[in-house]
Amino acid sequence: MTAAAPPSIVILTGAGISRESGLDTFRCAGGIWSQVRLEDVATPDGFRRDPARVHAFYNARRAQLADPAVQPNPAHQALARLEQEYPGEVLLVTQNIDDLHQRAGSQAIIPMHGELRKIRCDACATVLPWDQDCSPQSLCPACGNGGSLRPHVVWFGEMPLEMDRIYAALDDCGLFLSIGTSGTVYPAAGFVSHLSDIGLAHTVELNLTPSDGAGLFDDGLYGPAGEQVPALVDRILRGDIPGW
Ligand code: APR
Repeated sequence: MTAAAPPSIVILTGAGISRESGLDTFRCAGGIWSQVRLEDVATPDGFRRDPARVHAFYNARRAQLADPAVQPNPAHQALARLEQEYPGEVLLVTQNIDDLHQRAGSQAIIPMHGELRKIRCDACATVLPWDQDCSPQSLCPACGNGGSLRPHVVWFGEMPLEMDRIYAALDDCGLFLSIGTSGTVYPAAGFVSHLSDIGLAHTVELNLTPSDGAGLFDDGLYGPAGEQVPALVDRILRGDIPGW
């Protein structure tokens, strides 16, 4: 007789989990989409219209990751600890393109909207680590082509990465945590409804304030992620989650 495996956990994170590390969110007051039009820098049409402008937008955000002041915060660190100490499977699905989860030590990560510190070549489809500035004149290190490099970032109107793997994990999980996301961009915003239709997982929202989709969750914990996430991870590891 073997003991049943502990239920698996799927975690979705958004820009709010990186806010206390000094990175802007998108839709809070003063957020990124109040500084620049997403149509100009986060769509295929915007890139076709002005690739230099789009590269400059991502170059600035990539350079910010190299700032010593930008470090994983206690929320990122707590999720890495959960993966290490929880006896069951933990999958971290992030909408963020920063590298703070990776630097905190999380390993089972799906960056569904891509990664700022990678570049993709539209000529040879190679995806490569990339830490310097990129421009329409940059040459692809793999095929040598010029003018075919783009940020390895999923833009509006494009399909996020590894969706089959994400839905397989959602369909199998017992606990779903949604952390620091406004729940306004699909398909990520639809994960909680998908789970409610299945009825197997206990779902918890952790956010600064209740998102518009707060009512879709079984539970909600509100306040800065740097405080709420470590406290919840401690409770999960103690087996102290009411209703789950
Ligand atoms: N702790 C927890 N939550 C926070 C904190 C904090 N310190 N600060 C802000 N938040 C919350 C906000 O209340 C908001 O609900 O984080 C959320 C951030 O929402 P958005 O700015 O919309 O970011 P996100 O949900 O990640 O956006 C999803 O939209 O623009 C696209 O591709 C982009 O991945 C992004 C996607």
